[in-house]
Amino acid sequence: MPKQKSKFVCQECGYESRKWMGKCPGCNQWNTLVEEIESSSHQESGAKRSFSAPGSPQKPESITKVTSEKEPRIDTALPELNRVLGGGIVPGSLVLVGGDPGIGKSTLLLQMTSILADHSHKVLYISGEESVKQTKLRADRLDVKAETLFVFAETDMDLIEQAIDQIKPTLVVIDSIQTVHQVNITSAPGSVAQVRETTSTFMKLAKSRGIAVFIVGHVTKQGSIAGPKMLEHMVDSVLYFEGERHHTYRILRAVKNRFGSTNEIGIFEMKEMGLKEVKNPSEIFLEERTQGSSGSIVVASLEGTRPVLVEIQALIAPSSFSNPKRTATGVDHNRIALLMAVLEKRLGMLLQSQDAYINVAGGVKLDEPAIDLGLAICIASSFRNHVTNPKDVVVGEIGLTGEIRRVARIEERVHEAAKLGFERAIVPAKNMDGWTSPSNMDVVGVSTLEEALEMTLEHQTPNW
Ligand SMILES: Nc1ncnc2c1ncn2[C@@H]1O[C@H](COP(=O)(O)OP(=O)(O)OP(=O)(O)O)[C@@H](O)[C@H]1O
Ligand SMILES: [Mg+2]
Repeated sequence: MPKQKSKFVCQECGYESRKWMGKCPGCNQWNTLVEEIESSSHQESGAKRSFSAPGSPQKPESITKVTSEKEPRIDTALPELNRVLGGGIVPGSLVLVGGDPGIGKSTLLLQMTSILADHSHKVLYISGEESVKQTKLRADRLDVKAETLFVFAETDMDLIEQAIDQIKPTLVVIDSIQTVHQVNITSAPGSVAQVRETTSTFMKLAKSRGIAVFIVGHVTKQGSIAGPKMLEHMVDSVLYFEGERHHTYRILRAVKNRFGSTNEIGIFEMKEMGLKEVKNPSEIFLEERTQGSSGSIVVASLEGTRPVLVEIQALIAPSSFSNPKRTATGVDHNRIALLMAVLEKRLGMLLQSQDAYINVAGGVKLDEPAIDLGLAICIASSFRNHVTNPKDVVVGEIGLTGEIRRVARIEERVHEAAKLGFERAIVPAKNMDGWTSPSNMDVVGVSTLEEALEMTLEHQTPNW
């Protein structure tokens, strides 16, 4: 009998070692190395696997000689999902969907498979977490009745492969990768070795047979997909399904996409009948807005290719601590510190003794510099207790000297604001040329922060 070798694998990052160690040198976490027995088939595995068909060795070719054909895409009939995927599902692609427990991953994928099955595609939904009956209960709630949707509650990789061979589907959903296991690997389902091996088997299946495979991945407490980071490198696209538990809105975000842009988002609303697409996200982000208060302004931000109008709120209050608090949700708090320093130095606002709470309404995250002007205006508005005009929308990046810098794609932002009934847009002066503004919108160019504040803040004597 061959001697069995063992190795120790970090469950966080996949670092391998012959000896046990208390602290992983790869990710500096403690107690994450777990012993795994190496089997002979396991040794040849790993990221370096080739996906070419056996018996057809590939030769290097000149790029000009490679025939390119436009990849046909499978339309999911859910425009929000199509957009995040870069225009539809690419046959033979492997997509990883991650998200918090109970956020709606299974619901989204079941809805997607049911739509595809309705369009006469064969789809196989493999559930390792729920029995066929449980899946059927959900399907009833979502009113899924397609005949070519097959459900299979199985976790053994070999049996899953057999089922795929038998049914020959165009799309397979694995819910979730942490439950699937390969019998020749001794470690438990969900361990790094199992997750890596099963994902790489699905990768081979997808590439060699042209089947699109969606795998659900659990997330860790920190919010990243559980398992080795390598998992995200192996797949073609990584989507995160996120949202606040207390809100019904869910955002599907692409963080990696080999077939499209990564900053696209799709917005859904969780209803009893399943997920419903939100066609005009700006409306939901603005619906709870209180008019004519201080510390609030609407910015026109770009999410991927789409302009989205979002309200930013600030509350600046005198601090009772020597170290004032700076709390920001939905925006980078370093950016807030920088903008507060600009307001302090260039406009003489004494903000260092003030607590600052900044919030982006609706639970979205904004990370482009074009929202700087909005942030600075709502901070100044709350600090001075001057109100802003609810019909104003602002956009602009702020430099360290307090100058307003040019932003990209101004025309789309202003047109979106005009569509939603805003009457005045405060934009960088350098952005004023070369485009036509909507007729029902007053577009004003500003070149310094001071100018912008003078224009947007109105002094009002409080009536209390
Ligand atoms: N009867 C119902 N009415 C309305 N919403 C429901 C109903 N049943 C479930 N839901 C919603 O569906 C969500 C669960 O969705 P789903 O099972 O798809 O999540 P998941 O991300 O797959 O979870 P897990 O990580 O446990 O697999 C619940 O959190 C709830 O919001
Ligand atoms: Mg689920």
